Amino acid sequence: MRIDKKNLPVHIAIIMDGNGRWAQKQGMMRLFGHQAGVKTVKKIVEAARETGISVLTLYAFSTENWKRPADEVSGLMSLLKSYLQNELDSMLKNNVRLSSIGQLENLPAEVQKVLKKSIAETAGNNGLILNLALSYGGRIEVISAARQLAELCLEGKIKPTDIDEELFESKLYTADLPDPDLLIRTGGEARLSNFLLWQASYAEIYFTDTAWPDFTRDDLFAAINSFQQRQRRFGRTSEQVIKK
Ligand code: IPE
Ligand code: IPE
Ligand code: MG
Repeated sequence: MRIDKKNLPVHIAIIMDGNGRWAQKQGMMRLFGHQAGVKTVKKIVEAARETGISVLTLYAFSTENWKRPADEVSGLMSLLKSYLQNELDSMLKNNVRLSSIGQLENLPAEVQKVLKKSIAETAGNNGLILNLALSYGGRIEVISAARQLAELCLEGKIKPTDIDEELFESKLYTADLPDPDLLIRTGGEARLSNFLLWQASYAEIYFTDTAWPDFTRDDLFAAINSFQQRQRRFGRTSEQVIKK
């Protein structure tokens, strides 16, 4: 799949879905699908880095995913921990900076520990930003921003009329990151599932039936190619966009 290196999405966000069904279709446990999903994560991080993508956000665990059976949740948490431990060297070698968004305080203590360590150790890297959405929910993120702003109002530090898009964004988990340009969801569902509700307002969305464990570099390039065929109008007319 041909892609134009001069018109790349700066930030790609992916809802990595379909692991469980992929495994069950083969008569395997759902966790087998998650293990296969980790292999895809490694491949796609590498592909994004080599392509020159600036930010890759991966939706790995939602605030709603805590409702899953306890053994699946603990299986996912231990996969997350081993992924972080195993990948630190490669992140350092490849100039990848790790970051994370979500209610990180809800993650098991040992996961928080390895996450903090990897974030700190890769903080000086200036290549791909790998941003993991962990215990992430778009609604709670917006609520948390609203609460912080309400506190500042009560303390008299800001007025309600000071609240604009820029100030609001500065209180989101993604304060330091650009909005996603391309949002991919694998696994056949066409919904956002509480992902980047604020930030995705002008993302180009790409849905594919391919389950995450089967998602390849070429599938990523196909999504980027689709992105590059689209005209982003941001409310304007086609003619205005062409003239610009
Ligand atoms: C996505 O795959 C991974 C997580 C949500 C953690 P799923 O586990 O949702 O897979 P399906 O949708 O059941 O196939
Ligand atoms: C969204 O997938 C969350 C992640 C991929 C981490 P889900 O499988 O949890 O979404 P729903 O429940 O089908 O909407
Ligand atoms: Mg799912």
